[in-house]
Amino acid sequence: MLNDLEFDSKNFPTIIVNDGSVQTLTDAEAWAADNKAQIKKELANTGAVLFRGFPITDAMSYDDFFSAFGYENFTYKESLSNAVRINHTERVFTANEAPKNIEIYLHNEMAQTPFYPNIISLFCESAAEKGGETILCRSDLIYEKLHSKEPELTEKLEQDRGEIHYPHAFD
Ligand SMILES: [Fe+2]
Repeated sequence: MLNDLEFDSKNFPTIIVNDGSVQTLTDAEAWAADNKAQIKKELANTGAVLFRGFPITDAMSYDDFFSAFGYENFTYKESLSNAVRINHTERVFTANEAPKNIEIYLHNEMAQTPFYPNIISLFCESAAEKGGETILCRSDLIYEKLHSKEPELTEKLEQDRGEIHYPHAFD
């Protein structure tokens, strides 16, 4: 499954599809533990890894699978965020509790918090029948392009960073 990894930043996200050899949660935990060094190297190069077809069905099994990579836990409480989330396990909490008709626009995850994790992991337990996509983008690359075309703007944004406010769209 990992033979195609190129460790190249042009691949975004890296997509790893279960070839059928990982059949149980125990298999998935063992596979993650055995391959974590290679996957972390790929993540460092591409910025995102998407797993498809693994036997992960709920928050508990996702916690077990993600824990196998050995990252230190960073609880939502530690971020000092005031957004409403529901913890399902010590590591797994909801992305938001907004009504379903509210669109969550592209944003830097936890950018409004004074503390934030180095790695963010997302899991979809129940896909929406319509819409519901989670958009990923390399904001560092967007910044580089913006900075090369509009350096005055990016310098102003950096100077004004303390003035950025995040309104609650669904208060
Ligand atoms: Fe978010």
